[in-house]
Amino acid sequence: METWIQVERLHLGAEAEVNSGFWYGKPAIEKIRQPRTWRHPDLDRRLTKKRMTSEVKLMIKLRAKGVEIPAIWDVDFEEGRIVMERIEGQQLMSFLRSNKQTHHVLEKVGRTIRKLHRQAVVHGDLSTNNILIDQQNEAKLIDLGLANMDYEVESYGIDLHVLHEILRASHPEIDGAMEAVIKGYLALDEEYGAPALAPGGKPPTAKEVVKRLESIKTRVRYHGG
Ligand SMILES: Nc1ncnc2c1ncn2[C@@H]1O[C@H](COP(=O)(O)OP(=O)(O)O)[C@@H](O)[C@H]1O
Ligand SMILES: [Mg+2]
Repeated sequence: METWIQVERLHLGAEAEVNSGFWYGKPAIEKIRQPRTWRHPDLDRRLTKKRMTSEVKLMIKLRAKGVEIPAIWDVDFEEGRIVMERIEGQQLMSFLRSNKQTHHVLEKVGRTIRKLHRQAVVHGDLSTNNILIDQQNEAKLIDLGLANMDYEVESYGIDLHVLHEILRASHPEIDGAMEAVIKGYLALDEEYGAPALAPGGKPPTAKEVVKRLESIKTRVRYHGG
């Protein structure tokens, strides 16, 4: 059996080429970092390797902790290539466009984000394209290239604020969309208690983050950005 069989290119951005296909017969996604042509090739390769190492390490750790992200199946640091499990489903953006009953799924989105945050990790790019809804209506996070360990409540507030702004701008018709996300986000701490101590300190509680989100919203309203 061939290792990788490509079906289609999903996306070609400045950062990465994303292809859909099969890895040893299983539905998979291949993500290849685009070389930065303005950079010296040696430096570029070294930086790519460094970034990928931290991204892959983080993803493997998060998966092991039960955070809903794709499994990594293969990595080629020289080529800047990652092969991962393909999540069958759709981007949150298109899910919201094509479904009427969305609050339940938005709560799940909040739960999944909180699961990540409880591991002391901020996503860094929580757009509605980086959240997938699978066929069981479960929420999964992808595109963790900007994710990082963090202990500042502000970073967590900003993570949620990014999603808040996108939901407000692109789905103003959904009443209480962010409130549903927050409901799920808070519910997880109620079920599991305060987050455990991580290697670098204690991640903020869900309540602290939601409180910070509110103050970020106020700040943005008064200062416009
Ligand atoms: N593991 C995956 N399963 C299913 N679809 C994926 C997966 N990874 C990426 N995609 C699809 O490809 C798109 C682009 O991938 P992403 O990792 O977000 O790259 P980019 O950095 O270009 O935004 C996603 O929005 C999603 O639709
Ligand atoms: Mg993306």
